[in-house]
Amino acid sequence: MKKSIEQAFNDHLNAEFFSSYLYLSMANYFAAQNLEGMAAWMRVQLEEERMHAMKFVDFINDRAGRVVLQQINQPTIEWASPLAAFQDAYNHECLISGKINTLVDLANKENDHAAHNFLQWFVSEQVEEEATAQRIVEQLKRVGDNPVGLMIIDQQLGSRTASAPADAAE
Ligand code: FEO
Repeated sequence: MKKSIEQAFNDHLNAEFFSSYLYLSMANYFAAQNLEGMAAWMRVQLEEERMHAMKFVDFINDRAGRVVLQQINQPTIEWASPLAAFQDAYNHECLISGKINTLVDLANKENDHAAHNFLQWFVSEQVEEEATAQRIVEQLKRVGDNPVGLMIIDQQLGSRTASAPADAAE
């Protein structure tokens, strides 16, 4: 694989590991708030992010590139409210979508069809990632400070289970 793609993919797998770290941090925040359902939802999410990172690891290895693990930045550890945390998650997913789009542009520029094809899964995945986070943000906005509403959302989110790798889009 071309060095430019290898470098960009290495940078991106770091961003996916950071996503996993960020959601672990959110899981801990929710646990501290006694919102166990939201904490459980974040724990499923962090495993999906780890799976995203591993897809890049596998692709680089399959293409005879070299994976170079980089330092993972420290994530935020406190949020003002559950809404603020999920808003942050939504913003983060938009950031990741932008990075994926930039990778697609690079794959096109380098005429790397395999990389382009590989990235299409992530293009679709990011549509789901953004939509899911946004839905939860809207639900949290609707309930506002109502503790019963918050409890109901917490229970609903706690029912999330890990998806199969092929459709880990929720
Ligand atoms: Fe791996 Fe949530 O994007």
